[in-house]
Amino acid sequence: MKIFAFINQKGGVGKTTVAVNLARALTLKNYKVLLIDFDPQANAGSGLGIRVSKNESIYQALIEGNCERFLKNPYTNLYVLPSSIDLVGLEVELVDFPEREYLLKNLIEKSFFNGYPLQEFFDFIFIDSPPSLSLITVNILTASHGIIIPLQCEYYALEGLSLLVKTIRGIKKSFNPDLVLFGLVLTMYDSRNRLSHEVAEEVRNHFKWIVFNTLIPRSVRVSEAPSFGMSVIDYEKTNKASLAFLELAEEFLNRVKNYTTIIKPASSIN
Ligand SMILES: Nc1ncnc2c1ncn2[C@@H]1O[C@H](COP(=O)(O)OP(=O)(O)OP(=O)(O)O)[C@@H](O)[C@H]1O
Ligand SMILES: [Mg+2]
Repeated sequence: MKIFAFINQKGGVGKTTVAVNLARALTLKNYKVLLIDFDPQANAGSGLGIRVSKNESIYQALIEGNCERFLKNPYTNLYVLPSSIDLVGLEVELVDFPEREYLLKNLIEKSFFNGYPLQEFFDFIFIDSPPSLSLITVNILTASHGIIIPLQCEYYALEGLSLLVKTIRGIKKSFNPDLVLFGLVLTMYDSRNRLSHEVAEEVRNHFKWIVFNTLIPRSVRVSEAPSFGMSVIDYEKTNKASLAFLELAEEFLNRVKNYTTIIKPASSIN
């Protein structure tokens, strides 16, 4: 369990925020994390102060078949393969491309970093995805071991989820039989709002243990942090959302341990 996709075809549910801040929380616990931004909106990179053009992004890395020279390092232990808006054209460009579902998987498997294969160097590889079920999403699900679905604690949280689950089943069948639904994260939880509470209850009833216990609260600091190019944990360490992301990291690590017998920080190979 090393490569995780942050997926939900609904927009604005917290995919990027959870991917960025969970990654950052893990790096503070000395794990090495690579965050791959595979969304043309490029929010994961820009939220960490990284802005690149087409020929410095994952787009070019896919063409070259190696991502090493494109990785940025905003914080100790955290590396980012940034995206750019040019990725929008990818779907059309790949229509007749052989093995077009395996581009990201091949890139991860063939890339090296500091002399090590990517998956040996990094403890975790997180992939942020666009709000769609597209060839990009297919590539992400084909390349991943586990799926994390962020859900916003609002009335239509479960809407579209059955389509997503159906898509995941399709990918398992055609491209990636070992893929697992690793967890659901409830985001933008407002403890003063009864609806938030009800939605959280309903999601737990449906998905039971797969839902992480840690709730990510709504906080205006979370939405401010990206404009300063920072994770919320670095922006305001004592913020309730920052503390929640650190707690989520603990829960995530415990769950990973149940899936794989051995998990050791990749730092030990240096
Ligand atoms: N816990 C939170 N509290 C307050 N605002 C939040 C929280 N989590 C996310 N947001 C804000 O909600 C908006 C949507 O979040 P985010 O960009 O992470 O969603 P997304 O699913 O990645 O969106 P997209 O589908 O467009 O990629 C952003 O402005 C973000 O700053
Ligand atoms: Mg996003």
